[in-house]
Amino acid sequence: NANGAKAGQSRNFLEKMEESGKNCIIFYGSQTGTAEDYASRLAKEGKSRFGLETMTADLEEYDYENLDALPSDKIAMFVLATYGEGEPTDNAVEFYEFITGQDASFSKSDDPPLANLRYVAFGLGNNTYEHYNSMVRNVDKALQKFGAQRIGEAGEGDDGAGTMEEDFLAWKDPMWAALAEKMGLEEREAVYEPTFGIIDRDHLTPESPEVYLGEPNKMHLEGTAKGPFNSHNPYIAPIAESRELFSVKDRNCIHMEIDISASNLSYQTGDHVAIWPTNSGDEVDRFLDIVGLTEKRSKVITVKALEPTAKVPFPVPTTFDAIVRYHLEICAPISRQMVSTLAAFAPNDEVKAEMIRLGGDKDYFQQKTGPHYHNIARFLKAVGKGSKWPGIPFSAFIESLNKLQPRYYSISSSSLVQPKKISITAVIESQDIPGRDDPFRGVATNYLLALKQKQNGDPNPSPFGKTYALNGPRNKFDGIHVPVHVRHSNFKLPSDPAKPIIMVGPGTGVAPFRGFIQGRAKQAQDGASVGPTILFFGCRKRTEDFLYESDWEEYKKALGDNLEIVTAFSRDSSKKVYVQHRLRERSKDIGELLSKKANFYVCGDAAHMAREVNTVLAQIIAESRGVSESKGEEIVKNMRATNQYQEDVWS
Ligand code: 2AM
Repeated sequence: NANGAKAGQSRNFLEKMEESGKNCIIFYGSQTGTAEDYASRLAKEGKSRFGLETMTADLEEYDYENLDALPSDKIAMFVLATYGEGEPTDNAVEFYEFITGQDASFSKSDDPPLANLRYVAFGLGNNTYEHYNSMVRNVDKALQKFGAQRIGEAGEGDDGAGTMEEDFLAWKDPMWAALAEKMGLEEREAVYEPTFGIIDRDHLTPESPEVYLGEPNKMHLEGTAKGPFNSHNPYIAPIAESRELFSVKDRNCIHMEIDISASNLSYQTGDHVAIWPTNSGDEVDRFLDIVGLTEKRSKVITVKALEPTAKVPFPVPTTFDAIVRYHLEICAPISRQMVSTLAAFAPNDEVKAEMIRLGGDKDYFQQKTGPHYHNIARFLKAVGKGSKWPGIPFSAFIESLNKLQPRYYSISSSSLVQPKKISITAVIESQDIPGRDDPFRGVATNYLLALKQKQNGDPNPSPFGKTYALNGPRNKFDGIHVPVHVRHSNFKLPSDPAKPIIMVGPGTGVAPFRGFIQGRAKQAQDGASVGPTILFFGCRKRTEDFLYESDWEEYKKALGDNLEIVTAFSRDSSKKVYVQHRLRERSKDIGELLSKKANFYVCGDAAHMAREVNTVLAQIIAESRGVSESKGEEIVKNMRATNQYQEDVWS
């Protein structure tokens, strides 16, 4: 199997369950790790509360013809994220095609085939997207069609509304109750049992060649990294260039050129590049300090799974410092469930009582943590009122914190112009938080900023940026490097350059369109006939954050009047002007271009901008064709289905 399943490992999940004495398998379809994290949490809870013998399972590692042979005293759980435009996550593609396909066939020929299968299901979605939670909905439908019995409701978490965690908590309690009843499980008092053991490796030092200090796998450790580069194996790419795009002091937006010429990586205009970030030294120090590991940070340890189906999520031997810096998502807001788990290890009874209350009371938790954006270390510090938390077993962090995930950026260069150099356009996230004396800073964008400052020998790097360990093992090559891989997308130019295109990309939503326009300029230069190319771009002020202004002038030389940049500066006048206002003003031209089969693209903020643009477009179409607004909506839906309307949006 090409999808990263371990060589030689059986793809028969029943066999695996039998060998390891499991009666509950939790399959996950995960893209950014949240679904995988929820699966682990269900596994843990099923075991500690109900004595289930649980295992988690990456959907891409198994086959599903024998789903019909799972006996009814065992249970299957499905935790399924929906990706982008209603697509399965990469690791769930084969499963999804199998289970929803026309000719799914099972090992026995019972009718209905899955009459014995008992399952529960939870979906992770985002209601700002068109196909909200379509994965869990479609899989649930397919399982029911085959006669499987769902226990409890099929839960749906909504990232768009920001309620994912609470949706999950609200779903799982009734689910456990229903499951316990159906399967005759006795609830018992939960006792914490570590999933991982930590073993000292005192004969080793961080300098020993076999010790991992952030290298993602053995090839990287041994300096023999080679492709294929993918979500398990990044390419450590040299940064060819990085520069600031804004002309204001207090905000930053980076243009970075990443050199992939020495790798076998390739991309197409409109694809995404994954950046593998490192946590800032600042946050690593804060974490190690509060859990009492500062002195032991460089001690070499190994981590061992204490259960046969648990997987250590990073390579070992390693150090506490490296685990926290390179592998754990320590900067995400702490979850309420984690608070409950950690209560048992509170430094004193008063703190313990507060932890239990916070863990059990949603409103109280919101009120205490919501406005402050507490990551785990900041939370423990605030609740502990100065006490350290040395009693938390390190295993609890490995179990409860997400794996530090690569972040995806829309590529802002054209593969026609620079096939071996990928550019990205990233605005640095930094947000003042009431009640906090330092801003909240995005993990990956601030890592990119630190790389840029280092590369350019910035004489005044931000104090925060300086805390990144950029000379760490991942960067032990000359110059500056960044670990990356490429994810192919469906966000694509029409194959015929003569086709007109309309693009809407305010802020860094402009990224893929810079690639599009760069490519069309090259095609025009090479003599192709290139159709009308209109970009609607919005930012705050012409003189501050007008991205790529000089590039547009350059591309105009090749494209002439066929390139038009329509700008909306929201803070240059007393009234807000947004891209959708400009679209309205140009409704006649847009109607005409669409009737000439123009493609329409939107990139950027999903929650507000993309929705509003969708609505305005439906209105424009309704007016230009003399049909009702709801008919206009329907036409836009249809344009989506035929890829005439394409989105690359995020929230
Ligand atoms: P604002 O911040 O002044 O409100 C890039 O972020 C640009 O998108 C900014 O000019 C921003 O304006 C604007 N913007 C904010 N909300 C928007 C929305 N709902 N639709 C379109 N543009 C928006």
